[in-house]
Amino acid sequence: MTVAVTGAAGQIGYSLLFRIANGDLLGRERPVRLRLLEIPSALPALEGTVMELQDCAFPLLQDVEIGSDPHEVFDGAQLALLVGARPRAKGMERGDLLEANGAIFTQQGRALNDAAHDDVRVVVTGNPANTNALIAQRNAPDIPASRFGALTRLDHNRGVAMLAEKTGASVNDVKHLSVWGNHSATQYPDLDHATVAGRPATELVSRDWVTDTFIPTVAHRGAAILQARGASSAASAASATIDHARDLMLGNPRGDWTSMAVVSDGSYGVPEGLISSFPVTTSGGDWSIVQGLEISEFSRTRIDASVAELETERAAVTELGLV
Ligand code: NAD
Ligand code: LMR
Repeated sequence: MTVAVTGAAGQIGYSLLFRIANGDLLGRERPVRLRLLEIPSALPALEGTVMELQDCAFPLLQDVEIGSDPHEVFDGAQLALLVGARPRAKGMERGDLLEANGAIFTQQGRALNDAAHDDVRVVVTGNPANTNALIAQRNAPDIPASRFGALTRLDHNRGVAMLAEKTGASVNDVKHLSVWGNHSATQYPDLDHATVAGRPATELVSRDWVTDTFIPTVAHRGAAILQARGASSAASAASATIDHARDLMLGNPRGDWTSMAVVSDGSYGVPEGLISSFPVTTSGGDWSIVQGLEISEFSRTRIDASVAELETERAAVTELGLV
Protein backbone atom coordinates (compact mmCIF):
# COMPACT_ATOMS: atom_id res chain seq x y z
CA MET A 1 0.00 0.00 0.00
CA THR A 2 1.18 3.49 -0.81
CA VAL A 3 0.90 5.74 2.25
CA ALA A 4 1.50 9.50 1.97
CA VAL A 5 2.39 11.47 5.10
CA THR A 6 2.59 15.26 5.24
CA GLY A 7 4.63 17.17 7.79
CA ALA A 8 6.86 14.12 7.84
CA ALA A 9 9.87 15.91 9.38
CA GLY A 10 7.81 17.11 12.35
CA GLN A 11 7.47 15.65 15.84
CA ILE A 12 4.52 13.40 15.05
CA GLY A 13 6.18 12.26 11.84
CA TYR A 14 9.24 11.13 13.76
CA SER A 15 7.12 8.57 15.59
CA LEU A 16 4.48 7.85 12.94
CA LEU A 17 6.78 6.86 10.08
CA PHE A 18 8.57 4.19 12.10
CA ARG A 19 5.30 2.72 13.37
CA ILE A 20 3.91 2.49 9.83
CA ALA A 21 7.12 0.96 8.49
CA ASN A 22 7.02 -1.58 11.32
CA GLY A 23 3.59 -2.81 10.20
CA ASP A 24 1.58 -1.30 13.07
CA LEU A 25 -0.94 0.21 10.67
CA LEU A 26 -1.52 -2.37 7.98
CA GLY A 27 -0.38 -5.54 9.73
CA ARG A 28 2.80 -7.59 9.59
CA GLU A 29 2.09 -9.05 6.15
CA ARG A 30 1.52 -5.99 4.01
CA PRO A 31 4.46 -4.17 2.38
CA VAL A 32 4.29 -0.40 2.40
CA ARG A 33 5.62 2.44 0.25
CA LEU A 34 6.04 5.79 1.99
CA ARG A 35 5.60 9.11 0.16
CA LEU A 36 6.59 12.00 2.39
CA LEU A 37 5.68 15.65 1.93
CA GLU A 38 7.48 18.56 3.57
CA ILE A 39 8.08 22.23 2.94
CA PRO A 40 11.39 22.78 1.10
CA SER A 41 13.27 24.08 4.16
CA ALA A 42 12.49 20.87 6.09
CA LEU A 43 13.59 18.48 3.34
CA PRO A 44 17.21 18.20 4.61
CA ALA A 45 15.96 17.14 8.05
CA LEU A 46 13.56 14.71 6.39
CA GLU A 47 16.49 13.18 4.49
CA GLY A 48 18.00 12.38 7.90
CA THR A 49 14.79 10.64 8.98
CA VAL A 50 14.80 8.64 5.75
CA MET A 51 18.37 7.50 6.50
CA GLU A 52 17.15 6.29 9.89
CA LEU A 53 14.19 4.47 8.31
CA GLN A 54 16.66 2.74 6.02
CA ASP A 55 18.89 1.84 8.97
CA CYS A 56 16.01 0.09 10.73
CA ALA A 57 15.93 -2.47 7.87
CA PHE A 58 12.16 -2.85 8.24
CA PRO A 59 11.17 -5.97 6.29
CA LEU A 60 7.86 -4.41 5.15
CA LEU A 61 9.21 -1.07 3.95
CA GLN A 62 9.48 -1.24 0.17
CA ASP A 63 10.63 2.28 -0.60
CA VAL A 64 10.49 5.89 0.53
CA GLU A 65 10.22 9.01 -1.62
CA ILE A 66 10.22 12.58 -0.36
CA GLY A 67 9.28 15.90 -1.92
CA SER A 68 7.61 19.25 -1.52
CA ASP A 69 5.16 19.08 -4.44
CA PRO A 70 1.85 17.59 -3.23
CA HIS A 71 0.88 16.47 -6.76
CA GLU A 72 4.05 14.37 -7.00
CA VAL A 73 3.96 13.06 -3.44
CA PHE A 74 0.25 12.12 -3.53
CA ASP A 75 0.59 10.34 -6.88
CA GLY A 76 -1.11 6.94 -6.43
CA ALA A 77 -1.54 7.38 -2.64
CA GLN A 78 -4.06 4.93 -1.19
CA LEU A 79 -3.90 6.41 2.27
CA ALA A 80 -2.99 10.04 2.98
CA LEU A 81 -2.18 11.09 6.53
CA LEU A 82 -2.25 14.89 6.60
CA VAL A 83 -0.21 15.77 9.67
CA GLY A 84 1.66 18.89 8.58
CA ALA A 85 -0.01 22.17 9.44
CA ARG A 86 0.86 25.70 10.34
CA PRO A 87 1.00 26.11 14.13
CA ARG A 88 -0.47 29.14 15.81
CA ALA A 89 2.25 31.78 16.13
CA LYS A 90 2.39 34.56 18.72
CA GLY A 91 -0.19 37.24 18.05
CA MET A 92 -2.11 35.11 15.55
CA GLU A 93 -5.90 35.17 15.85
CA ARG A 94 -7.95 32.03 15.16
CA GLY A 95 -9.00 33.54 11.81
CA ASP A 96 -5.32 33.97 10.83
CA LEU A 97 -4.69 30.34 11.74
CA LEU A 98 -7.63 29.17 9.63
CA GLU A 99 -6.40 31.27 6.73
CA ALA A 100 -2.79 30.02 6.95
CA ASN A 101 -3.94 26.42 7.11
CA GLY A 102 -6.56 27.05 4.46
CA ALA A 103 -3.81 27.72 1.96
CA ILE A 104 -2.18 24.37 2.80
CA PHE A 105 -5.34 22.28 2.79
CA THR A 106 -6.91 23.79 -0.35
CA GLN A 107 -3.71 22.95 -2.22
CA GLN A 108 -3.48 19.47 -0.74
CA GLY A 109 -7.18 18.76 -1.37
CA ARG A 110 -6.74 19.67 -5.05
CA ALA A 111 -3.59 17.57 -5.33
CA LEU A 112 -5.34 14.56 -3.77
CA ASN A 113 -8.21 15.05 -6.17
CA ASP A 114 -5.86 15.08 -9.18
CA ALA A 115 -3.20 12.58 -8.20
CA ALA A 116 -4.24 10.14 -5.47
CA HIS A 117 -5.44 6.57 -6.10
CA ASP A 118 -9.17 6.32 -6.92
CA ASP A 119 -9.70 4.50 -3.65
CA VAL A 120 -7.81 6.94 -1.40
CA ARG A 121 -8.66 7.45 2.28
CA VAL A 122 -7.60 10.69 3.96
CA VAL A 123 -6.99 11.27 7.68
CA VAL A 124 -6.32 14.81 8.92
CA THR A 125 -4.31 15.17 12.13
CA GLY A 126 -2.96 18.72 11.59
CA ASN A 127 -4.92 21.33 13.57
CA PRO A 128 -7.54 22.72 13.42
CA ALA A 129 -8.14 19.15 12.25
CA ASN A 130 -11.91 19.14 11.62
CA THR A 131 -11.90 22.33 9.58
CA ASN A 132 -8.67 21.47 7.75
CA ALA A 133 -10.36 18.21 6.75
CA LEU A 134 -13.42 20.14 5.59
CA ILE A 135 -11.25 22.41 3.43
CA ALA A 136 -9.36 19.48 1.88
CA GLN A 137 -12.60 17.58 1.26
CA ARG A 138 -14.36 20.53 -0.36
CA ASN A 139 -11.37 21.07 -2.67
CA ALA A 140 -11.44 17.44 -3.83
CA PRO A 141 -14.82 17.22 -5.60
CA ASP A 142 -14.05 13.90 -7.33
CA ILE A 143 -13.31 12.05 -4.10
CA PRO A 144 -16.38 10.91 -2.12
CA ALA A 145 -16.74 13.07 0.99
CA SER A 146 -16.90 9.99 3.21
CA ARG A 147 -13.22 9.28 2.43
CA PHE A 148 -12.12 12.27 4.54
CA GLY A 149 -11.87 12.15 8.30
CA ALA A 150 -10.21 14.08 11.10
CA LEU A 151 -8.53 12.74 14.20
CA THR A 152 -10.46 12.65 17.47
CA ARG A 153 -9.08 9.21 18.32
CA LEU A 154 -6.50 10.77 20.62
CA ASP A 155 -9.33 12.28 22.68
CA HIS A 156 -11.11 8.90 22.60
CA ASN A 157 -7.97 7.08 23.78
CA ARG A 158 -7.40 9.66 26.52
CA GLY A 159 -10.95 9.09 27.75
CA VAL A 160 -10.59 5.29 27.68
CA ALA A 161 -7.33 5.44 29.65
CA MET A 162 -8.76 7.84 32.22
CA LEU A 163 -11.92 5.79 32.80
CA ALA A 164 -9.88 2.59 33.10
CA GLU A 165 -7.64 4.20 35.70
CA LYS A 166 -10.55 5.59 37.69
CA THR A 167 -12.36 2.24 37.82
CA GLY A 168 -9.23 0.13 38.38
CA ALA A 169 -9.91 -1.71 35.13
CA SER A 170 -7.77 -2.46 32.09
CA VAL A 171 -8.20 -0.32 28.98
CA ASN A 172 -9.28 -3.57 27.31
CA ASP A 173 -12.38 -3.60 29.53
CA VAL A 174 -13.59 -0.16 28.40
CA LYS A 175 -15.99 -0.01 25.45
CA HIS A 176 -18.46 2.32 23.78
CA LEU A 177 -17.01 5.66 24.79
CA SER A 178 -17.93 8.44 22.35
CA VAL A 179 -16.31 11.74 21.48
CA TRP A 180 -18.62 14.26 19.81
CA GLY A 181 -17.87 17.51 17.98
CA ASN A 182 -14.63 19.36 17.43
CA HIS A 183 -11.05 18.36 18.33
CA SER A 184 -10.82 21.36 20.62
CA ALA A 185 -11.64 22.30 24.18
CA THR A 186 -15.37 22.24 23.31
CA GLN A 187 -15.30 18.53 22.44
CA TYR A 188 -17.70 16.28 24.37
CA PRO A 189 -16.25 13.00 25.63
CA ASP A 190 -19.41 11.06 26.53
CA LEU A 191 -19.58 8.18 29.02
CA ASP A 192 -23.37 7.69 28.89
CA HIS A 193 -23.09 4.53 26.77
CA ALA A 194 -19.63 3.42 27.92
CA THR A 195 -19.16 0.12 29.70
CA VAL A 196 -16.35 -1.24 31.86
CA ALA A 197 -16.12 -5.03 31.78
CA GLY A 198 -19.75 -5.05 30.63
CA ARG A 199 -21.06 -2.75 33.39
CA PRO A 200 -22.40 0.74 32.59
CA ALA A 201 -19.71 3.32 33.39
CA THR A 202 -22.41 5.59 34.83
CA GLU A 203 -22.92 3.02 37.65
CA LEU A 204 -19.19 3.04 38.47
CA VAL A 205 -18.34 6.76 38.54
CA SER A 206 -20.28 9.72 39.90
CA ARG A 207 -21.99 12.32 37.73
CA ASP A 208 -19.87 14.98 39.48
CA TRP A 209 -16.65 13.21 38.55
CA VAL A 210 -17.79 13.04 34.92
CA THR A 211 -18.72 16.71 34.78
CA ASP A 212 -16.03 18.28 36.94
CA THR A 213 -13.05 16.02 36.29
CA PHE A 214 -13.44 13.63 33.34
CA ILE A 215 -14.78 15.98 30.66
CA PRO A 216 -12.46 18.94 31.36
CA THR A 217 -9.38 16.73 31.82
CA VAL A 218 -9.89 14.96 28.49
CA ALA A 219 -10.78 18.20 26.70
CA HIS A 220 -7.72 20.05 28.05
CA ARG A 221 -5.25 17.17 27.94
CA GLY A 222 -3.49 18.56 24.85
CA ALA A 223 -2.83 21.84 26.67
CA ALA A 224 -1.60 20.00 29.79
CA ILE A 225 0.90 18.01 27.71
CA LEU A 226 2.06 21.14 25.94
CA GLN A 227 2.61 22.80 29.31
CA ALA A 228 4.51 19.82 30.75
CA ARG A 229 6.61 18.90 27.72
CA GLY A 230 7.06 22.32 26.22
CA ALA A 231 5.83 20.75 22.99
CA SER A 232 2.50 19.33 21.92
CA SER A 233 1.68 15.63 22.13
CA ALA A 234 3.57 13.68 19.50
CA ALA A 235 3.98 9.94 20.17
CA SER A 236 0.40 9.66 21.44
CA ALA A 237 -0.89 11.67 18.47
CA ALA A 238 1.04 9.38 16.10
CA SER A 239 -0.35 6.34 17.88
CA ALA A 240 -3.91 7.66 17.63
CA THR A 241 -3.39 8.41 13.91
CA ILE A 242 -2.31 4.78 13.46
CA ASP A 243 -5.34 3.55 15.47
CA HIS A 244 -7.73 5.69 13.39
CA ALA A 245 -6.30 4.54 10.05
CA ARG A 246 -5.90 0.90 11.11
CA ASP A 247 -9.48 0.64 12.37
CA LEU A 248 -10.74 2.33 9.22
CA MET A 249 -8.88 -0.07 6.94
CA LEU A 250 -9.02 -3.28 8.97
CA GLY A 251 -11.81 -2.82 11.55
CA ASN A 252 -11.45 -2.43 15.31
CA PRO A 253 -9.48 -5.37 16.73
CA ARG A 254 -11.63 -5.45 19.91
CA GLY A 255 -14.98 -5.23 18.13
CA ASP A 256 -15.56 -1.85 19.80
CA TRP A 257 -16.84 1.30 18.19
CA THR A 258 -14.47 4.25 18.05
CA SER A 259 -14.63 8.03 17.60
CA MET A 260 -13.80 9.78 14.35
CA ALA A 261 -14.63 13.15 12.90
CA VAL A 262 -16.50 12.36 9.68
CA VAL A 263 -18.80 14.19 7.30
CA SER A 264 -22.18 14.51 8.98
CA ASP A 265 -25.26 13.10 7.25
CA GLY A 266 -27.44 15.00 9.72
CA SER A 267 -27.33 12.24 12.36
CA TYR A 268 -27.95 13.40 15.94
CA GLY A 269 -28.90 16.85 14.66
CA VAL A 270 -25.36 17.68 13.48
CA PRO A 271 -25.76 19.82 10.32
CA GLU A 272 -25.05 17.93 7.12
CA GLY A 273 -21.59 18.42 5.66
CA LEU A 274 -19.80 19.42 8.88
CA ILE A 275 -16.84 17.23 9.79
CA SER A 276 -17.76 16.43 13.37
CA SER A 277 -16.78 13.61 15.71
CA PHE A 278 -19.23 10.74 16.18
CA PRO A 279 -19.11 7.21 17.53
CA VAL A 280 -18.52 5.05 14.45
CA THR A 281 -18.04 1.44 13.46
CA THR A 282 -15.52 0.71 10.74
CA SER A 283 -14.53 -1.94 8.25
CA GLY A 284 -12.84 -2.23 4.87
CA GLY A 285 -12.08 1.50 4.58
CA ASP A 286 -15.64 2.57 5.39
CA TRP A 287 -17.34 3.85 8.52
CA SER A 288 -20.92 4.21 9.76
CA ILE A 289 -22.18 6.43 12.50
CA VAL A 290 -23.58 4.38 15.40
CA GLN A 291 -27.33 5.02 15.30
CA GLY A 292 -30.08 4.98 17.89
CA LEU A 293 -28.15 6.20 20.94
CA GLU A 294 -30.24 7.97 23.52
CA ILE A 295 -28.97 11.52 24.00
CA SER A 296 -29.61 13.07 27.41
CA GLU A 297 -30.37 16.75 27.84
CA PHE A 298 -26.87 17.28 29.26
CA SER A 299 -25.28 15.54 26.24
CA ARG A 300 -27.47 17.54 23.86
CA THR A 301 -26.18 20.83 25.29
CA ARG A 302 -22.55 19.67 25.09
CA ILE A 303 -22.85 18.34 21.54
CA ASP A 304 -24.62 21.50 20.39
CA ALA A 305 -21.90 23.73 21.88
CA SER A 306 -19.08 21.94 20.06
CA VAL A 307 -21.05 21.74 16.81
CA ALA A 308 -21.75 25.49 17.07
CA GLU A 309 -17.98 26.07 17.19
CA LEU A 310 -17.55 23.94 14.05
CA GLU A 311 -20.26 25.97 12.32
CA THR A 312 -18.41 29.17 13.22
CA GLU A 313 -15.20 27.74 11.75
CA ARG A 314 -17.05 26.67 8.61
CA ALA A 315 -18.54 30.15 8.26
CA ALA A 316 -15.06 31.70 8.65
CA VAL A 317 -13.46 29.52 5.95
CA THR A 318 -16.47 30.02 3.68
CA GLU A 319 -15.99 33.77 4.08
CA LEU A 320 -12.33 33.34 3.17
CA GLY A 321 -13.39 31.49 0.00
CA LEU A 322 -11.60 28.28 1.07
CA VAL A 323 -14.52 25.86 0.75
P1 NAD B 1 5.61 19.99 14.03
O1 NAD B 1 5.60 21.47 13.97
O2 NAD B 1 6.68 19.28 14.79
O3 NAD B 1 5.60 19.39 12.56
C1 NAD B 1 4.78 19.89 11.55
C2 NAD B 1 5.51 19.70 10.26
O4 NAD B 1 4.63 20.08 9.21
C3 NAD B 1 6.76 20.57 10.15
O5 NAD B 1 7.88 19.75 9.87
C4 NAD B 1 6.42 21.51 8.98
O6 NAD B 1 7.55 21.81 8.17
C5 NAD B 1 5.42 20.67 8.22
N1 NAD B 1 4.56 21.44 7.30
C6 NAD B 1 4.09 22.69 7.46
N2 NAD B 1 3.42 23.08 6.36
C7 NAD B 1 3.46 22.04 5.50
C8 NAD B 1 2.97 21.84 4.20
N3 NAD B 1 2.29 22.77 3.54
N4 NAD B 1 3.21 20.64 3.60
C9 NAD B 1 3.90 19.69 4.23
N5 NAD B 1 4.42 19.82 5.47
C10 NAD B 1 4.20 20.99 6.09
O7 NAD B 1 4.16 19.59 14.57
P2 NAD B 1 3.68 18.18 15.14
O8 NAD B 1 3.90 18.16 16.60
O9 NAD B 1 4.22 17.08 14.29
O10 NAD B 1 2.10 18.34 14.92
C11 NAD B 1 1.56 18.42 13.62
C12 NAD B 1 0.12 18.88 13.69
O11 NAD B 1 -0.68 17.94 14.38
C13 NAD B 1 -0.08 20.21 14.42
O12 NAD B 1 -1.05 20.95 13.71
C14 NAD B 1 -0.63 19.79 15.77
O13 NAD B 1 -1.39 20.81 16.37
C15 NAD B 1 -1.49 18.63 15.34
N6 NAD B 1 -1.88 17.71 16.38
C16 NAD B 1 -3.13 17.17 16.28
C17 NAD B 1 -3.56 16.27 17.22
C18 NAD B 1 -4.94 15.65 17.11
O14 NAD B 1 -5.32 14.88 17.99
N7 NAD B 1 -5.74 15.92 16.08
C19 NAD B 1 -2.74 15.91 18.28
C20 NAD B 1 -1.47 16.47 18.35
C21 NAD B 1 -1.04 17.36 17.39
C1 LMR C 1 -3.60 17.57 21.32
O1 LMR C 1 -4.79 17.27 21.47
O2 LMR C 1 -2.68 17.08 22.01
C2 LMR C 1 -3.22 18.58 20.27
O3 LMR C 1 -4.27 18.77 19.37
C3 LMR C 1 -2.78 19.85 20.91
C4 LMR C 1 -2.27 20.84 19.89
O4 LMR C 1 -2.79 21.97 19.90
O5 LMR C 1 -1.38 20.51 19.10
